[in-house]
Amino acid sequence: MLVVKTEGLTKEFRTGFWRTRVRVLHDLNLEVRQGEIFGYLGPNGAGKTTTMNLLMGLIYPTAGRAWILGRDVSDVAVKAAVGFLPENPYFYTYLTGWEFLNFYGQLFGIPSGERRRRIEELLHLVGLSDAGKLQLRKYSKGMLQRIGLAQALINDPQAVFLDEPMSGLDPVGRKEVRDLILSLKAKGKTVFFSSHIIPDVEMICDRVGIIVNGRLIRVGPLEELLGSELESIEISASGLDDAAMVEMAQWSVRPPVHRGEKVFFAVGTEKEAMQVVERLLKMGALIHAILPHRLTLEEHFLREVANREPGRRASPEPGRRGGP
Ligand SMILES: Nc1ncnc2c1ncn2[C@@H]1O[C@H](COP(=O)(O)OP(=O)(O)OP(=O)(O)O)[C@@H](O)[C@H]1O
Ligand SMILES: [Mg+2]
Repeated sequence: MLVVKTEGLTKEFRTGFWRTRVRVLHDLNLEVRQGEIFGYLGPNGAGKTTTMNLLMGLIYPTAGRAWILGRDVSDVAVKAAVGFLPENPYFYTYLTGWEFLNFYGQLFGIPSGERRRRIEELLHLVGLSDAGKLQLRKYSKGMLQRIGLAQALINDPQAVFLDEPMSGLDPVGRKEVRDLILSLKAKGKTVFFSSHIIPDVEMICDRVGIIVNGRLIRVGPLEELLGSELESIEISASGLDDAAMVEMAQWSVRPPVHRGEKVFFAVGTEKEAMQVVERLLKMGALIHAILPHRLTLEEHFLREVANREPGRRASPEPGRRGGP
């Protein structure tokens, strides 16, 4: 069964003095399957939180529809089956961690005995057993994030939606959250989480969706995203004379690099690699290695962002503004 399904989900906000419509989510078609960890990756302002809020029924779409566990997101029955960690959870800071969880447990109508048991269990799960009696205003950022996660699990949900669960955490805290997400998956739960921290997504996700400027531009299993695109093929060779060097510099997609005897250059396609190898052998060179270089998730991500958000190119071309 599909845990999340959206069809043409679109959101516009009216902003500014003239109340102009700005489309921040364009025609999102997304499917999240049962038991998977789905990473929703995108830069700041891409539309991740907007998507989460639409799925949680906190805001309404301009067009399109969304279902969770087969029910329309506006169906209240959905609420009982999902857990949600918002981006900026509002914490009643004078409550203790224990009281905070108790409050949410009551909202879900969990009977008191079971509630108490679950709170203890969750405090233990997120490593806050000793902090249950401490007021939230005395919690560190990492502790707040963890109590927020415990809150998202209070109703033992089938599916968990986490908006940037690793944000503000140090590397140890991030690892703890990753392990927690993996343990949820091991219990058969589905996890949909957003992030802009690529290694966190890379380490635990079964499938990834990349959203830029409100558009889902890639979606698929991580291995597929990583393994699909050939960035270049690196060839290392030795024994090239000057004429051969000149010729190879023309083939190469980046300036050849010399390291000891060897020279490294790169071509863009498999076909070119074959041609170059043939030329090199003819010219009496020795070939040491032919290595395909596939894009990492980070390279994918940076390339997509640069393509879709030209303003955020790492090194903008100066003086090319043009125009009248
Ligand atoms: N209530 C609103 N009114 C007007 N514009 C909004 C509103 N909420 C979000 N936006 C705009 O929608 C776009 C997407 O915002 P969103 O919060 O979904 O991005 P995000 O991917 O979660 O970013 P971040 O990584 O910074 O959390 C942004 O340009 C934002 O300014
Ligand atoms: Mg956000």
